[in-house]
Amino acid sequence: MKVIDLRSDTVTKPTAEMRAAMLAAEVGDDVYGEDPTVNRLEALAAATLGKEAALFVCSGTQSNLLALLSHCERGDEYIVGQQGHTYKYEGGGAAVLGSIQPQPLDYEADGSLDLARVESAIKPDDPHFAKTKLLCLENTQGGKVLPLDYLKRAQEFTRARGLGLHLDGARVFNAAVHLKVPVTEVSRYFDSVSVCLSKGLGAPVGSVLCGTKALIAKARRWRKVVGGGMRQAGVLAAAGIYALENNVERLAIDHENARALARALSGIEGVAVAPNGAQTNMLYINVEPQRSVRMREYLKSQGILISGQGSIRLVTHLDIDRADVDRVAASVKEFFTAAAKAA
Ligand SMILES: Cc1ncc(COP(=O)(O)O)c(C=O)c1O
Repeated sequence: MKVIDLRSDTVTKPTAEMRAAMLAAEVGDDVYGEDPTVNRLEALAAATLGKEAALFVCSGTQSNLLALLSHCERGDEYIVGQQGHTYKYEGGGAAVLGSIQPQPLDYEADGSLDLARVESAIKPDDPHFAKTKLLCLENTQGGKVLPLDYLKRAQEFTRARGLGLHLDGARVFNAAVHLKVPVTEVSRYFDSVSVCLSKGLGAPVGSVLCGTKALIAKARRWRKVVGGGMRQAGVLAAAGIYALENNVERLAIDHENARALARALSGIEGVAVAPNGAQTNMLYINVEPQRSVRMREYLKSQGILISGQGSIRLVTHLDIDRADVDRVAASVKEFFTAAAKAA
């Protein structure tokens, strides 16, 4: 029985074609700048995102960390979402390794940070305070796509105040595909963008940080400092090139599958699908917490993996097809029908 893993889009496995590209990759020592495949990926990523330069790194966490270390210095501050990956889910790396203070703010319902609240969080130039240097947004944020006019306002806002603007664009291609625009329409507003190749795009490893030549030169130095200088990394970069060339447009299928799953689950008594269903490849459902634990166990027995308790995030990706969506919906229904009978 095929295991259907809805816990994250990080679980995708490289396809035979991607593995073939990895096998065929020309390699060299990337720390010397001599890996032709890494160089090709970095050039492709920079061109695709419309930035001067890009840097191949091992993970989204490292990419965001290098961005923060490159925008900010010891004693500086970045403003970020309370649930932002760069704040909450990266081990406090910027503070631990860079002496950079986060200033978290609650996200709005649409995944944006209210610019009036950002304004009031900016610290005056006074030795009592850290120096506010950067605003960090996330897109998609919990599967939500930030509106383009908001991004434009965020750019105007940060420029007028001398702040940098970084995007944790782990899933920026999901945002662009949802909006039906080239990804440059999203990335153009940011000074730097971190993109994960190893989520919906299906590569086994890797992210790219894109920005100006000067910023990427700094980030390259920091990458070495944090031990992220890889050597014959072309075998991994080849998967990234394959992902960028082949797996972007198909994200629309993941979005459609997530919407189909939202529709199917919303008819089940005991399951509350979060408002707006699914914009991209994520949907959130609410199930009474104790019951959600039993549901998780039941689904596991049916070869379906989910995580969370109470509020559950379900993620579609390239290893999930429509038949899998139907199987998940049927299994959830079975669980609640059996629970209703037992009650
Ligand atoms: C929004 C977001 N940013 C960054 C990351 C970090 O990526 P990685 O797991 O490659 O470190 C993740 C990972 O799930 C993420 O969801």
